[in-house]
Order: sequence, then C-alpha cells, then structure tokens
Amino acid sequence: MRQKLVAGNWKMHGSLVQNKVLLDALVTGLKTVRNVSCAVCVPYPYLFQARIILHESNIAWGAQNLSPFDYGAYTGEVSGPMLKDFGCRYVIVGHSERRTLQGEDSRLVAQKFKAAQAAGLIPILCIGETLAEREAGATEKVVAGQLEAVLELSGIAALTSAVVAYEPVWAIGTGNNATPEQAQTVHAFIRQGLTARNPEVARQLQILYGGSVKAGNAAQLFVMPDIDGGLIGGASLNADEFLAICAAAGS
Ligand code: PGA
Repeated sequence: MRQKLVAGNWKMHGSLVQNKVLLDALVTGLKTVRNVSCAVCVPYPYLFQARIILHESNIAWGAQNLSPFDYGAYTGEVSGPMLKDFGCRYVIVGHSERRTLQGEDSRLVAQKFKAAQAAGLIPILCIGETLAEREAGATEKVVAGQLEAVLELSGIAALTSAVVAYEPVWAIGTGNNATPEQAQTVHAFIRQGLTARNPEVARQLQILYGGSVKAGNAAQLFVMPDIDGGLIGGASLNADEFLAICAAAGS
C-alpha cells in the first residue's frame, strides 16, 4: 500500500512571525496523525526557521525550486546541495507557475529533477494541462510529454525516489478543483503508462493531486485509488485547513 503524502506549497507567502504561528500549530496538530506523511515547501529564506521548528517533529520540509547546477556563477540561484544542507527532504520542480511565469520548459525541469536527486532530495514533479489544452482533448498528450522529458534524462528507475503531482493549471488557485473522477482518470493514465515500462515503479509511485484542494473536498479526492495525497497551495497557509486535509489523507 502506498503511504499518502500531503505537501504544502506556501508559494511566496509568509513572514517569520506568521510562519512560527503556523508551524507551531502544525507540529502540535500532527503529533498523533497516522498513515500519512506531511511536508511543507517554504520560500528559501524560511528554510532555516522551518528546520529549527520542525526538526524534532514528524513534518518534513522542502523548497519550491532549485538550480539545475550545484555551485558556480549563477547569481540569485539556490542549489540542491544547499537545500540538503538545510535538511530539506523535498523540492518542487516544474510547478506550472514557474513553467509559465519563469519560462521553464520540460527540458529544464528534467535537469532540475536530476539535480535534486543527485543532491539526495526527493523531487515533487508537477505536471498538468491548461484549460485550453484540456478543451482541445490534449490532457494526456501534455502530461505524458512533461513526464517523458524526465524519463528520457533520468530513466524510469528514478521514479522510485520521486513524487509526481498532477496539477491541472485551470484548477490551481481558482477554487475550481478537478472532480475526483477527472483527477482519477489522469492519475490512472499516468500510472498505466508507467506500468507498461516498469510495473513495480508504477505501483509504488506516489501521485499527488494539486489544484484547489481544501478541507471540504480532500476526502473525496483522496479516496480515489490512484490519488496518493495532495500538493496544497492556498489551504496550506491555514493551520486548521491543512490539518484537516492531512487528517483526511490519513483516515
Ligand atoms: P492551490 O495551489 O491549492 O492554491 O490551488 C496548488 C499548487 O499550486 O500547488
């Protein structure tokens, strides 16, 4: 059985004061949680704070991006080894906001995925279609293509220490989550495609759903057979919401 994972993606939100309140509430609230792994992916400047508050808890922490390079003259970049230095377990790669706003293409995302694993981090690889792509019937082609770029560079075995997050772009931050059936269809498509190449890798891979997950819809999503948890944006900034989502994944 795959363990469920709920990861918060704080995006560019937070402050030392707000984070302390939120993280303290999560540490307390998740003390007794069972059958689910929980993590928060915080902005770089707050990794040290996350490490201090979370290091004795059962909550992992991570970042939202990394450089494809380890060291060097790359002004403004942060590398995998640096994230590892701060105790990160996870790093998000290929989030649609970075693909769209920072122009990251699937080739660069694949390089970042590889750099993350080389540093001993678990990449959370985000894939997903836009509304126009869905309406054009291209959902499967888009997600398969985004995944293929990673498989070409790192090989299927790399997915044994990675997480995939299916995040339809039209569902992110809009309040319009994919229905459990819509999400399950794409998750099953992803898993079936991988099963043809390596059944064991496909069977154990955690595939998260992301896009307007809240306390009110988490349970219906997580009950689907190929949905192994969630990548949570807005609702991860609210302790009660995030705790309820983690509880829904653990039940
Ligand atoms: P959302 O964001 O939960 O606010 O829709 C999800 C994400 O971008 O990872």
